[in-house]
Amino acid sequence: MSVVFSFPGFETIADNIAAKLNFRRGDVTVRHFPDSESYVRLETPVAGQDVIIVCGLEHPDHKIMALMFFSHVAREMGATSVGLVAPYLGYMRQDKRFHDGEAITSDIFAAFLSQIVDWLVTIDPHLHRHERLDEIYSIPNRVIHASGLIAAWIRDNINGPVLIGPDMESEQWVSQVAKDAEAPFIILRKIRHGDRDVEISVPDVKAYKDHTPVLVDDIISTAHTMIETVGHLKAAGMKPPVCIGVHGVFAARAYENLQAAGVENIITSNSITHPSNGINIEDIITDAVAEMK
Ligand code: R5P
Repeated sequence: MSVVFSFPGFETIADNIAAKLNFRRGDVTVRHFPDSESYVRLETPVAGQDVIIVCGLEHPDHKIMALMFFSHVAREMGATSVGLVAPYLGYMRQDKRFHDGEAITSDIFAAFLSQIVDWLVTIDPHLHRHERLDEIYSIPNRVIHASGLIAAWIRDNINGPVLIGPDMESEQWVSQVAKDAEAPFIILRKIRHGDRDVEISVPDVKAYKDHTPVLVDDIISTAHTMIETVGHLKAAGMKPPVCIGVHGVFAARAYENLQAAGVENIITSNSITHPSNGINIEDIITDAVAEMK
């Protein structure tokens, strides 16, 4: 028997898994003390049960200790396994030592998380220099893709789209979305000079002047990648763009800044809860969890 728990903010995903797979729904209290240390209490017995915890890992530093405590206490209370559903998997972007002495946090975090849980389900992790999660995660894992849902959204909502990927690594998902949406696509070149300093090169887009540009990226964090791209498309005389991100991290005022850049249509999946959510990933997560069991 399986029991599904949720960290704060992921209740609807956990509810969907429990309802569709006929699992029990468990309760856990997760909070922070005034000094910011974490408090975790399992409210539902788990002895002899397979435990599933839904906890997205955006803002991972704020959650990872509580997740470790959750997993430990679940095992102490007799859980036979602890599986993690992390719709957004944090710490995937620093996958290389660019400067002497830098921690390759993707690898270190993966090794740490592999000690904490028995398996992992996630959506479109930022796989750039690593091709597969297995290269850094030593636990069974299932990577699911939002490309089919994004393509369906584009087909249903946009007339004459041209998909735009902001950088080389985006080609993997943009080309798939374009294929499913039966739309043309263009991949741009990006040079990142700093956290909030990106340079984008836009090829000749004249052929697509009567198309609606649809920017597709896996993560919108500071939104500088999108804002920079939108600026180039405007200058090239393209129609107003639509911006789609699988994961709307939206650091600080990123969302407002993207709107201020003139983008009225910003769409993300509900891997991270946000007013821009327009693509529902609950069912593909549930299907993946069913396959892990
Ligand atoms: C990185 O290469 C990713 O695919 C995104 O392009 C990036 O994370 C977006 O970051 P930001 O919104 O801060 O420009």
